[in-house]
Amino acid sequence: MTAILGISAFYHDSAAALLVDGHLVAAAQEERFTRKKHDPDFPSNAVKYCLKEAGISAADLDYVVFYEKPFVKFERLLETYLAFAPAGFRSFVTAIPVWLKEKLMMNRRIRKEMAGATKAKLIFTEHHESHAASAFFPSPFEEAAILTLDGVGEWCTTIWGVGKANRIELTNQITFPHSLGLLYSAFTYHCGFKVNSGEYKLMGLAPYGKPVYADRIRKHIIDVKPDGSFWMDMQYFNYCQGLTMTSHQFSNLFEMEPRKPESTLEQKHMDMAASIQLVTEEIVLAIANHIHQQTGIRHLVLAGGVALNCVANGRLLREGPFDDIWVQPASGDAGGALGAAQFVWYQLLNNPRHVESVDSQFGSLLGPQFTTDHVTRFLNRAGVTYQRFESDQELIARVAELLTEDKVVGWFQGRMEYGPRALGSRSIIGDARSPKMQSVMNVKIKYRESFRPFAPIVLREEASEWFDIQPQHESPYMLVVADVAESKKTRLTRDQMQVMSESVDLCERVNVPRSEIPAVTHVDYSARLQTVDQIRNPRLHSLLKEFQSRTGCPVLVNTSFNVRGEPIVCAPEDALRCFMATEMDVLVLENCVILKSKNETQQTFAERESHLARFALD
Ligand SMILES: [Fe+2]
Repeated sequence: MTAILGISAFYHDSAAALLVDGHLVAAAQEERFTRKKHDPDFPSNAVKYCLKEAGISAADLDYVVFYEKPFVKFERLLETYLAFAPAGFRSFVTAIPVWLKEKLMMNRRIRKEMAGATKAKLIFTEHHESHAASAFFPSPFEEAAILTLDGVGEWCTTIWGVGKANRIELTNQITFPHSLGLLYSAFTYHCGFKVNSGEYKLMGLAPYGKPVYADRIRKHIIDVKPDGSFWMDMQYFNYCQGLTMTSHQFSNLFEMEPRKPESTLEQKHMDMAASIQLVTEEIVLAIANHIHQQTGIRHLVLAGGVALNCVANGRLLREGPFDDIWVQPASGDAGGALGAAQFVWYQLLNNPRHVESVDSQFGSLLGPQFTTDHVTRFLNRAGVTYQRFESDQELIARVAELLTEDKVVGWFQGRMEYGPRALGSRSIIGDARSPKMQSVMNVKIKYRESFRPFAPIVLREEASEWFDIQPQHESPYMLVVADVAESKKTRLTRDQMQVMSESVDLCERVNVPRSEIPAVTHVDYSARLQTVDQIRNPRLHSLLKEFQSRTGCPVLVNTSFNVRGEPIVCAPEDALRCFMATEMDVLVLENCVILKSKNETQQTFAERESHLARFALD
């Protein structure tokens, strides 16, 4: 037996992944266990879980692999400082003690944390090797072009190459400070969202704006060559030497200061979002075209933070030169743990790779699961009133019935997702046809006002009927955006059109029903869809089928099972706590159905407030 543990840690979203004889046994982010969003600490809990899942102990591990090379990264920080000295002194003195203490002692720290792993060799892969490996090795392709688009690892920010059978070869790169990820993050910061997590909000804001600043970006900020390579004018940025992302010159160029977090969103912010989104898409398409020209390969795989930009992915799929693309669902740094482990198994140990027709990511359902017996014992202890279904069919029928009654349902099933998105294992679901669902879910369950609609889940076989996606394509990891099909759009009245074009309240705009599935239709008719198939997620597939047979609609709303700022729930305890603290109507824990109406007395206002107070705003 060969056991390889991959680890990413100490920056953002720590995670662990375990391969046993090449088989992906388990993978999870640390935040789910510690309940601290984006937890960057050593992933002790995730490691413990992975080992338990495999039924082995640390002493059985042959390799422990860390997803980047700390010394090379330190060299980048030092060189960047010297290049900008003395300008960067403040950020330098903030960063360096942490580096000296934590990161340069990495070898010792990992050895200490993994004290039981006495025989394991400790290996450090490069940051982009880890991302690239996570994009190619689990993909359904024997051969593919590889593109990673990221903020920054050691030096590299963008890299491309080719994967064939059990090897990847990375040939071209763009290095720091020129970075598509940091460019997008700079605009995220300037528009008042959090770097490293608010990028998704900026992408969601873009449909409200017009790309009026795109020319200014192309002319002054980033010079893009026909092959997609780019050079950024660093006078507009401050991330090399300062503690902010953008500089005064940036504010002057766009005639706007950085927006204060949580303050009102104005049209100019939406236009900024639309502009940087457009330029990002152009660059991604240009690089993809170039790679295709150079390699002649039909498939492309992607990873790195920018690969989570599902609007760009959607355009790549529809307009790009590749027949098909596959995007690693844990494309951020959490996925580095998986890539690092796979890099060792295939590339270093030269083990053969067998390609699965779906892919080898198992729906990214790689985390903990709990049996119905476990759930039942827990609910009994907690004194909760519930109904246990012995037959899956009856359970599915009951949940579908509740969904048709406009109930909001917490859906906790099987193994927890690896990566940032809830894919139907730790999800809150509802009827996508309901015009009220968007605001009900936002205001009464997630406790946020949101200008973003929710994401749809749709039966794989019905997807092209409802969305503008080719029947041969799929989006199993919610990483592709497509428009709602023409036949499902509704004609707007004059009043509605006026609200759409004039209302300053974005929530009012997004609540104008524009299709048969308004809860998941954005203002530009786009939707972040997840296609659900029988192989990856059979139970959710049955539920969608049952809902379709009752309503004619194979689409439901899917949002992550948490409140604002809370990591997605992991265990039944987390799910029940979140359920009780919100106005969710129904909780389905494996085969047990819990109705809020039967458990009302247990919920107090103070309990809800104390649950919400545990999590900082995201
Ligand atoms: Fe990264």
